[in-house]
Amino acid sequence: MKPRVVSERVTWVGAVDWDRRLFDSLIPLPDGTSYNSYLVRGSEKTVLVDAVDPATRDALMANLTGVKKIDYVISHHTEQDHSGAIPDVLAKYPEAKVLATPRAAGMLADHLAIPPARITAVADGETVSLGDRTVKFVHTPWVHWPETMCTFLVEDRLAFTCDFFGSHLATTDLFTRDEPRTREAAKRYYAEIMMPFSRHVGENMEKVAALAPAVIAPSHGPIHDRPAFILDAYKEWVLAPPRNMVLLAYVSMHGSTRIMADRLTAALAARGVSVERFDLVGVDLGKVAMALVDAATVVVGTPTVLGGPHPLALYAAALVGALKGKAKWLSVFGSLSWGGKAVETLAGLVAGMKAEIIPPVLAKGLPKEADLAALDAMADAIAAKHKDAGLR
Ligand code: FEO
Repeated sequence: MKPRVVSERVTWVGAVDWDRRLFDSLIPLPDGTSYNSYLVRGSEKTVLVDAVDPATRDALMANLTGVKKIDYVISHHTEQDHSGAIPDVLAKYPEAKVLATPRAAGMLADHLAIPPARITAVADGETVSLGDRTVKFVHTPWVHWPETMCTFLVEDRLAFTCDFFGSHLATTDLFTRDEPRTREAAKRYYAEIMMPFSRHVGENMEKVAALAPAVIAPSHGPIHDRPAFILDAYKEWVLAPPRNMVLLAYVSMHGSTRIMADRLTAALAARGVSVERFDLVGVDLGKVAMALVDAATVVVGTPTVLGGPHPLALYAAALVGALKGKAKWLSVFGSLSWGGKAVETLAGLVAGMKAEIIPPVLAKGLPKEADLAALDAMADAIAAKHKDAGLR
């Protein structure tokens, strides 16, 4: 994509990665992504805000054709999808200095071998004059790494937020024009990237909102020229109580665990509890993550394999334990052949959530009537917990 005008002094010069399908060798990107980079021209100084993923460095450098001088490169976040092309920019503009948080200064040297002499650490609230424009730095740790910050272009009331409020969405829309589509992509992004740090996200959300930005320009996905759209969405994801909903993730080898999943799904539905159900074979990890934003209870179904949970159930439990979400109750069901420690192993993976464990249900082989009745009792327990908590 060619450079695009964001406002009188701000030009988008990043890259759209239409075909990328996996991030961090883990996160599915059904809609590709973008690495937004912005050129801000003050009357005296020119700033590049974030660089791009190294795989798209040629796009950034092509978009800088004709730009004679860059005084500062603002590095909001050291992760390579925003900093990877900084060495190329510094090579082309030998006078340019990198501005970053004190913590990022060390990390940029570690990860990208940027010479410390070319990095200037900036304090929270510090400003730098570009002539007739001013940039103000707002430290926002843990959105997404500990060193992250945002930048406020004061006179334009434009907040550059890097990962924060972003979405993995390749689109020709420079600004958010399809709010439902962007909301879905931003929720997926929040769930996968931000949710493990939700307390920090909440604090930093207030910090950015207090700037009263007219525009929020993240470094992934479209720019928000109606900031209330994304701020309100974040408030819901971070602060709203969980829904009266169970995330049921299961894997079945010979059908027994699936029979149990069917019974529990029906029993919960009959008790007025919504179920978001995922067969873990070939599951879209992003959809599971999004359900974790809202689920009050997570239940994992697994057969035993070599004395432990099925590897896909292990993966799901590790994901739940890492992303955390809002779940207050957890449980396990499944079918075993001759024994094993499936429940203990899964419980260990989610121990950090401090959620209450609802008694598991394990059937020996094909579930019998007593096993199915125990699943009904599990549904009773979950429905009662949700009701007592006033969940809707
Ligand atoms: Fe888009 Fe945490 O990098």
